[in-house]
Amino acid sequence: MLKAKMCGIIGYVGEKEANDILIAGLERLEYRGYDSAGIAVTHNNTISINKSEGRVHNLKKEKLDGTIGIGHTRWATHGPPSNKNAHPFTCNEKKFVVVHNGIIENYLELKSGLHRSGISCTSDTDSEVIVHLIAQAYGGNLKEAVCKVIKHLQGSYALCVMHKDTHELVGARNGSPLLIGIGKGENFFASDASAIIDYTKDVIYMNDFQIAEIGKNLVTVFDFDGVEQSHEIKKIDWNLEQAQKSGYKHFMLKEIFEQPSVAQESLKVTFAIRKDFSRIIFVACGTASYAGLVGKYIIEKIAKIPVVNEIASEFRYKECLISEKDLVIAISQSGETADTLAAVRLARQKGARTLGLINVVDSTIAREVDSVVYTRAGPEIGVASTKAFISQLVMLYKFAFHLTENGMSNDIVDKIKETLKLSESIRKLAEQYYTCQNFLYIGRNIHFPLALEGALKLKEISYIHAEAYPAGELKHGPIALVCTEMPTIAICPQDSVYEKTYSNIEEIKARNGKVITIATEGDERIRNVSNDIIYVPKVDDIFYPFVIAVVLQLFAYHIADLRDCDVDKPRNLAKSVTVE
Ligand code: G6P
Repeated sequence: MLKAKMCGIIGYVGEKEANDILIAGLERLEYRGYDSAGIAVTHNNTISINKSEGRVHNLKKEKLDGTIGIGHTRWATHGPPSNKNAHPFTCNEKKFVVVHNGIIENYLELKSGLHRSGISCTSDTDSEVIVHLIAQAYGGNLKEAVCKVIKHLQGSYALCVMHKDTHELVGARNGSPLLIGIGKGENFFASDASAIIDYTKDVIYMNDFQIAEIGKNLVTVFDFDGVEQSHEIKKIDWNLEQAQKSGYKHFMLKEIFEQPSVAQESLKVTFAIRKDFSRIIFVACGTASYAGLVGKYIIEKIAKIPVVNEIASEFRYKECLISEKDLVIAISQSGETADTLAAVRLARQKGARTLGLINVVDSTIAREVDSVVYTRAGPEIGVASTKAFISQLVMLYKFAFHLTENGMSNDIVDKIKETLKLSESIRKLAEQYYTCQNFLYIGRNIHFPLALEGALKLKEISYIHAEAYPAGELKHGPIALVCTEMPTIAICPQDSVYEKTYSNIEEIKARNGKVITIATEGDERIRNVSNDIIYVPKVDDIFYPFVIAVVLQLFAYHIADLRDCDVDKPRNLAKSVTVE
């Protein structure tokens, strides 16, 4: 069985105490996983390790001395999180430590080889073999040992290695993100820039098949054969303030409230893409995929170009009928999602042109697509995506208008602002409904993807079961679920399909279902079929998703908060899914 992890890693070498820097960095990387955490620091030629199941803050009970160290926060897909499976891993003589993000696919074979040489692993993970192999391969130079070992590793990895006596760390990347932070008299490795932005804004994004050696005044990048390579230092263009809660109870709430300014920023983006494709294919996962579905409705409506919306994890393993005439658009907040990345690679192999709508600048997908447009949402910390979704919608609308050479109005910014004023009344509504066990979400046409997104938000942060259906599909099965205990969120603004959705709501009412309707302000008639109503501002038909998304986010947020759930770090989830 594969032990797959996404995880966050960090390394520090400098003059300051590494302990606090590593722990603070890991706290920022917790969005990548929070099943266990650990750090290792070397001091007076001795490695000390502090690791524990659960959150990073558990590491604060102890303090390790030393100015060089590595750290890890883990997200496990197989096997229970435990102390023994927590990174960093060390070898029998405690000379080396390793942290790893990714999957070593041939670890069983490597483990048997180690076993034959009398070395046994103490954990169930795939990662531990790396440290034993490095100990075996070491002949006085850490980088060379890592070069030798990675030739035997199959799978994906970002890893960081430390030797007890040396003053350098070695990092390697193949398929999982890793960057180098360049400081003054100190340098860092990290899975992403949020972990190190307190100390530096200068970074080198490592490419696949690169190894790097960092000391306090040294940064050298090599290929996997150990040949030195040139590197480019980039400036991070966002600040820490953007990655803090700024007085909000949760990042998610803060990010929901940032949406007017995010939309404003995203509206500034322009497209300069040739329009000589006959079909568009979206590849994405999770919330980004629901944005893609909205994009499909909008582009087909406005630009009359056929669009296929593919879930990346499905796309990559089915018959791939694409050609040079297709434009494949990858939508991703992180730019690191493994399935979306694989879909992009496949599309490129098949000769299709690829475009990325990506939030994180210089992320792997951003670097691999033929052209990239950044969605400009700023750092999104809450695991459940909100402002990134709104920015993706803006991009997709702008793209649809670009295809018809029309401009897009920016009224939506004010309408989103107006909708945010509903937060308190939505909280009151949430107080009535937060104990429910099941919800149904319905919508037609462009509101169907919104129903999917609304149900996903509720599921992921409140752990309430929620199902989304196209309103017209209810009678083909799900209406059997309708009863007083299963409320329906009906998305029914006054647009072209209003009457049709209205009839579907009537069908629910006729079966004693409770209905919370999201309706256009001033719509009195909707009262006849609703138990509760959330009125949204009137907008042009096609722009309703912008205001409805905000309502659905706030509803899920308040329900989850009333249920005392860990809104920003829901159980079992991670923000950046770097394994398939
Ligand atoms: C995870 C996150 C979701 C996100 C999805 C796709 O599941 O929890 O919020 O929508 O990954 O991530 P991406 O970074 O590619 O948009």
